[in-house]
Amino acid sequence: MSEVADGLERKLEGMLEIEKFEPSAEYRDGALWTDPAIYEEAAADPVAWWTARAKELLDWDVEPTTGLDDSNPPFYRWFEDGRLNASHNCLDRHVAAGLGDRVAYHWRGEEGERRDVTYAELLDSTQRFANALKDLGVKKGDVVGIYLPMIPEVAVAMLACARIGAIHNVVFGGFSAESVRERMEFSEAKVLITVDGARRKGRTAPIKQQVDEQMGDLGSLGKIVVVRATGTACPMTEGRDVFYDEACAAAAAECPAEPMEAEHPLFILYTSGSTAKPKGIVHTTGGYLTGVTTTHRHVFDLRPEEDVWWCAADVGWVTGHSYIVYGPLSNGATSVMWEGAPDHPHQGIWWELVQDHGVTILYAAPTAIRTFIKWGAEIPGRYDLSSLRLLGSVGEPINPKAWLWYHQVIGGGRCPIVDTWWQTETGAIMITPLPGITATKPGSATTPFPGVSADVVDERSGEPVAEGQGLLVLEKPWPSMLRTLYKEDERFVETYFSRFGKERYLVGDAARKDGDGYLWVIGRIDDVVNVSGHRLSTAEVESAIVAHESVAEAAVIGQSDPDTGQAICAFVTLAGGVEPTEELVEGIRAEVATRIGKFARPKRVIWADDLPKTRSGKIMRRLLRDIAEGRALGDVTTLRDPGVMAELERQIAAEGDED
Ligand code: WTA
Repeated sequence: MSEVADGLERKLEGMLEIEKFEPSAEYRDGALWTDPAIYEEAAADPVAWWTARAKELLDWDVEPTTGLDDSNPPFYRWFEDGRLNASHNCLDRHVAAGLGDRVAYHWRGEEGERRDVTYAELLDSTQRFANALKDLGVKKGDVVGIYLPMIPEVAVAMLACARIGAIHNVVFGGFSAESVRERMEFSEAKVLITVDGARRKGRTAPIKQQVDEQMGDLGSLGKIVVVRATGTACPMTEGRDVFYDEACAAAAAECPAEPMEAEHPLFILYTSGSTAKPKGIVHTTGGYLTGVTTTHRHVFDLRPEEDVWWCAADVGWVTGHSYIVYGPLSNGATSVMWEGAPDHPHQGIWWELVQDHGVTILYAAPTAIRTFIKWGAEIPGRYDLSSLRLLGSVGEPINPKAWLWYHQVIGGGRCPIVDTWWQTETGAIMITPLPGITATKPGSATTPFPGVSADVVDERSGEPVAEGQGLLVLEKPWPSMLRTLYKEDERFVETYFSRFGKERYLVGDAARKDGDGYLWVIGRIDDVVNVSGHRLSTAEVESAIVAHESVAEAAVIGQSDPDTGQAICAFVTLAGGVEPTEELVEGIRAEVATRIGKFARPKRVIWADDLPKTRSGKIMRRLLRDIAEGRALGDVTTLRDPGVMAELERQIAAEGDED
């Protein structure tokens, strides 16, 4: 370790003793919200408080006269008689206010390309593409799939849907074409918008070709729109496929934003749950936009005229929907949009972007921060990061050491850190510090945002825990909450509102409450794994593994991992007569890459002659987690065949020998 690195290490170790970080007086004096009374004001009447935010921050065609309709829980409705359009709120109103020349996105391509897209340009493109969608027969309420990399057209496609009331269904570019097909099928999408090819670290993947291999016989999907992003040759089917640029050129320039009912669905986003079938989370126009606009402005203390915002997520996850597209645009902010990976063309690219564009607020995942720690503080040290004034974290618990490194090395000790807890289902940030008010503790997302009530309750009784561990719940409806699971109302009630009743939302995370009432989110309680902030269901990965011809059975667990938070560990039983080999491990990993996506590939495969099962045949994952992480085994008396564990232990010992 170099002397400098050694010094930093000692400094961070010493700082672990510091319990609380107060916002500096300098920061606090300039912040938008500085008075803690905001919490009491919101708590006194959350519905009135949210309604006031909805009216203050959004432009309504018809202002709502109603707040929350809770007559049919858990199917809550917000601002029901209001009408508004999300794309109008993100674009037209800013252009009308004379801000058309403001940059919406400083886009940066992998190979160093730069493209600044202004609000006026984004509005023009969105209107044209909205008309192009209409020309393809898309109507209000139709589902439109979007499978695009991080290019400005992804925002255009989403906003064009919103403009005409089509419901977008974005699939993260890291998912395989087979996953895209499944999501198009479940949602009965009429149109899919994709690209010829997508770049990743200097290589180009033939996306359209991969899509074609999967989508051929999907009857509901009538049209495929192809953005020419890389010039990759791609097959086009006459009558079904059109190029984005040609469709836009043929379309009319003006397309007025249509006022939508507040409860009109804005999008569906599939996420992983306890079973292999992804859940189609449904978000609506008025409530969602209220949630993301309010939180983006106040959690990040945003000054749209001067800030340069960068959310380093992918648009295909909820973080990208809420904090790359809808929140920042609705607030009229200027963002950086980065196409690529953190280590291409070099490991300092993030910091080069911060320096080049004068980024003032950076929002990133702990997994990225841990990677930067591994690469060394010298790399960010080569760049001027003095423009930064606030840092955010999202997606998984951040360990105190990574928090302190982020604070010291990236934030120069002067930037508050907002550790924001939320989910695809919540639409917007729920638990977070307010940077001008809250004293932060490294590793804690602190307390609920004003107007949100979260608590930790006892697993069995459901009684709130005064101090200690339990299940995280949200106690009251909030505007940006999911409304249902697409076409699966019953599953919606069953998943979130059966354990503690219809008035309390079950999050699916375990958490701890400390003596100050601060919340510490520990992790999922269901069979969901969080790999680098990517949400995956163990059942989904298992069904991909057993699709491999040599596999008889598989059980997947999330194992804690110093880099990715959790990593996929698979216990695999091979079909009779098949011998375990290294090629087979690669074959299994490839199967998962094809069926789900590369990010879901197991990091570790453990061969198992048999899996630990109860007498009724249920796999006991708890025991698999214990054994994979080298912990003492819990109770094994309910196992059908206790000898299975001894055999697995031998197998794991052998794995150690090979290393
Ligand atoms: C986890 C991502 C600890 C949590 C926005 C949650 C977090 C799941 C945090 C949702 C955080 C998210 N601290 N854990 N600050 N943020 N999580 O739907 O387990 O992709 O339930 O939404 O990520 O993941 P999702």
